[in-house]
Amino acid sequence: MFLTELNQLSMKLSATIFYSIIFLSSLFSYCFFKKEKRLHKTRAKLPPGSMGWPCIGETLQMYTQDPNVFFASKQRRYGDIFKTQILGYPCVMLASPEAARFVLVAQPHLFKPTYPKCKENLIGPSALFFHTGNYHARMRKLVQSSFSPEATRRLVPDIENIALSSLESWANGQVINTFHEMKKFAFEVGVLSIFGQLDKIYRDMLRENYSILEKGYNCFPTKLPGTAYHKSLMARRRLKQILGEIVNERKEKKLLTNNLLSHLLSFKDEKGNTLSDNQIADNIIGVLFAAQDTTASVLTWILKYLHDDPKLLDVVKGEQKAICESEYGENRSLTWSMTRKMPLTYRVILESLRKASIISFTFREATADIEYEGYLIPKGWKVMPLFRNIHHNPEFFVEPENFDPFRFENPPKPNTYLPFGNGIHACPGNELAKLEMLVLLHHMLTKYRWELVGPADLIQYSPFPVPEHGLRARFKKEL
Ligand code: HEM
Ligand SMILES: *[C@@H]1O[C@H](CO)[C@@H](O)[C@H](O)[C@H]1NC(C)=O
Ligand SMILES: *[C@@H]1O[C@H](CO)[C@@H](O)[C@H](O)[C@H]1NC(C)=O
Repeated sequence: MFLTELNQLSMKLSATIFYSIIFLSSLFSYCFFKKEKRLHKTRAKLPPGSMGWPCIGETLQMYTQDPNVFFASKQRRYGDIFKTQILGYPCVMLASPEAARFVLVAQPHLFKPTYPKCKENLIGPSALFFHTGNYHARMRKLVQSSFSPEATRRLVPDIENIALSSLESWANGQVINTFHEMKKFAFEVGVLSIFGQLDKIYRDMLRENYSILEKGYNCFPTKLPGTAYHKSLMARRRLKQILGEIVNERKEKKLLTNNLLSHLLSFKDEKGNTLSDNQIADNIIGVLFAAQDTTASVLTWILKYLHDDPKLLDVVKGEQKAICESEYGENRSLTWSMTRKMPLTYRVILESLRKASIISFTFREATADIEYEGYLIPKGWKVMPLFRNIHHNPEFFVEPENFDPFRFENPPKPNTYLPFGNGIHACPGNELAKLEMLVLLHHMLTKYRWELVGPADLIQYSPFPVPEHGLRARFKKEL
């Protein structure tokens, strides 16, 4: 048992090393600003841990081992707070719920978001997740109101149509790349929630150009023509242009719809200032970016987990079929309130978010020398709350490697369940994400069967973890 796991691990190693290197270069690339050398005046000492080889730090270990194994072994050795170095950047990793809470909720002003400049430029520097303070708070309020339960509730019929036509398109006898198809689904729902109804011609232009943009996201940031990064920047420019056209059209028609775009357009601060075209475009592209791969990876994992547990699959199907029998109205469509009557399916989603922990950790940067639990976190160091470690800690989730949706019959302990982060940067799209997953799963489980094609035991990083080859599957409509 142990040996086969080891074997799997080493196979996984070679398959993932390629992705890993792309991924790590993406996270810490060349474009982080230079680290400062400074003397620390406080008496507190640095956390335990090893800084690895100079410069390369422990990056290689981190990415050549199963990340679970790497972080977990560190945690066993040094405790919940330890230091390491990744591509020349000193980091403090935090693996306890209290420490994650300290950074994200209690003292968020001491820890600012930190992204490489080259990535900021692709998404758009005014997108809310790069910001803190006043601007962040304003934009966040606006985004939150656009994705509030009241706002997302109205989207159910349209999400349902997107789900139905996605499923229809998968069931043509061909083998599909599940992740790839889920990305299309999540993109369409993202576009719907941002723009409301939008002409197909615009949706296609946005999708095509966005997919060029995202290909450059993990590439070496050079402006040499022909490179993926350069193509990506050009696509970014076209996206801005397309958004400009949509905005003009909306302004002309004075469309008073209720969605993110309309909220961005009607925003005024205390002084009566509106948002600039760049601020609007950056935030729209930012939301598309935050919404697509995340939701698609989780949906892909759900299919895998359900496939791997036929008994559970049957029970979940039972729950969904019961909704058709007892709840459907005359036109046989879902309503928001029906989506609230799917407790087991909902727990499958919660457990998939936990087990897959697709956002394994996040980054902040210390804005001052900070003392926590007697340890010094020096100004300028990266700080990483390790969501995955917390989600895989047997103290909080019994037998964490088991896929067990029933564990969510009891709510998790406070601050131990963080798939959507926590605090002032926590995911404002989480209700929408869960809603679109419920709607898709409902129709998938009641009308379709699927089988996996080829192996699906290794993990690929794209850059979120998903089963290898995006989980190839064949869908069939049930009669
Ligand atoms: C299952 C799918 C999703 C997961 C797991 C997820 C997870 C997260 C996490 C962990 C964060 C916080 C990151 C941090 O603190 O560094 C976050 C932020 C964010 N998410 Fe999501 N997300 C998902 C779907 C969505 C969707 C559908 C949208 C939009 C409709 C969205 C929009 C955002 C935005 C705008 C932020 C930045 C918030 C801020 O900085 O104030 N996410 N997400
Ligand atoms: C990208 O956007 C432009 C409009 O700016 C459009 O003409 C084009 O068809 C879109 N797609 C691609 C792949 O360039
Ligand atoms: C029928 O479906 C539409 C959405 O497509 C919904 O707004 C309407 O309330 C439904 N009517 C009934 C009777 O269920």
